[in-house]
Amino acid sequence: MKAQAAIFDLDGVIVDTARYHFLAWKRLAASLGITLTEAFNEQLKGVGRMESLQKILEFGKLSLPPEKMEELAEMKNEWFKEFISRMQPTEIFPEVPGLLQQLKHNGLCIALASSSKNARTVLQRLNLEGVFDAVTDGNDIANSKPHPEIFLTTALRLQLPPSNCVVIEDAAAGVEAALRAGMKVVGVGDSSVLQGAHRVVRQTKEITPALLKELLL
Ligand code: BG6
Ligand code: MG
Repeated sequence: MKAQAAIFDLDGVIVDTARYHFLAWKRLAASLGITLTEAFNEQLKGVGRMESLQKILEFGKLSLPPEKMEELAEMKNEWFKEFISRMQPTEIFPEVPGLLQQLKHNGLCIALASSSKNARTVLQRLNLEGVFDAVTDGNDIANSKPHPEIFLTTALRLQLPPSNCVVIEDAAAGVEAALRAGMKVVGVGDSSVLQGAHRVVRQTKEITPALLKELLL
């Protein structure tokens, strides 16, 4: 059997930290007089911290000096860290531990690829440290999604060709990054947002080892 991998995004796929990112950005945007909508937030998912802030400022037609942007990004991150400091392992989407176990049982490697610099802290809070064969996060890459770097780095770490990897993503930027990396992608969420994904499911719990293996044939 050829070696294959399932590469999971974190925020919004394994746990609903995508909500915490949204709430923190919404609060920051409000402080600048910008109303952040859920629809606009789709463009922020999967995208790095500074790139997200840049998009919010463009959305609000604002331009700020780099020092001020650093300060605002730091403030948002402090609010996000407050949310995750209160997080419990029970917040992990219930079917995820079982799915990870089944995938391993089926001989697949499992990896995590998140643009977030807080990814390892979130994994700790969920008791998921040491579960993945490889973890790549925002600290390991120069270009965040939709650039394919994070997925290509993960494949290299797993010593697998991209064509042997399937990515599970809730962000349009993540789907694009996986496709640009030459991988298969399962989108989690709304198919009108996750265009180009090979499959789209509404929730992570609908993903089965059979579905992922079918895409890797
Ligand atoms: C991604 C999230 O996982 O990480 C984005 O989907 C977030 O919303 C990005 O902006 C960067 O996260 P952090 O924690 O490094 O600010
Ligand atoms: Mg995500």
